[in-house]
Amino acid sequence: MTVFLRITAPMLLTIDDILTPEELAKARDLLDRSLWASGQITAGTQAARAKNNRQLAEDAEHLPALRRLVLAALQRNPMFFTAALPLKILPPFFNRYGGDANHYGWHTDNAMRLAPDSGYVRADVSATLFLSDPEEYEGGLLTIEDTFGNHGVKLKAGSMVLYPSSSIHQVTAVTRGQRSACFMFIESMVRDPGQRRLLFDMDMALLDLRARLGEADSVVRLTGAYHNLLRRWASS
Ligand code: NI
Repeated sequence: MTVFLRITAPMLLTIDDILTPEELAKARDLLDRSLWASGQITAGTQAARAKNNRQLAEDAEHLPALRRLVLAALQRNPMFFTAALPLKILPPFFNRYGGDANHYGWHTDNAMRLAPDSGYVRADVSATLFLSDPEEYEGGLLTIEDTFGNHGVKLKAGSMVLYPSSSIHQVTAVTRGQRSACFMFIESMVRDPGQRRLLFDMDMALLDLRARLGEADSVVRLTGAYHNLLRRWASS
């Protein structure tokens, strides 16, 4: 069996090919036909000082179609589900780095975000879905501070990285070309990143065991343990 999820660093998870080539082409076309606003619109006070990029405004013409496209892709992705254990997803945002609006210095994401329809969403997991290929731009490295050091992430278009919203991170200056991405904040059923990670590791190991052994008694019992941990830690 194929596991589409890669572990980039202790708390970073990468999921390849979230979007199909058709969806990616459509998203890129919609972004190219959009008007870009200043990225300041969604930054908190600290982040606003560090942020210099462009972003689609809430009233941008193609934003609803782009959001539907990304959310549908997440919904059908079992790896996204097991990695994020999503309870609520704030409607995705879209940004672009290049020219004189080309970086986002070290910052932390706001813990609480107001969603247009559903009240506050607590940001537990942050996600960046890359919409430009690495060859299209120079720089633009998403750098995330982890308990084990800094990790630079640059993925192929259509792939996504998940990381704890509590981490400090930056996007280094794009010195050539343009980097477009979608970024998201997710409230997880499991608030604690360590517990989430343990559940994820266990689920991946269970997938492998089930593929090799089928529904052996020990696999059934371990699956039960996974769900009992989830029952203990998850809130809905
Ligand atoms: Ni951020």
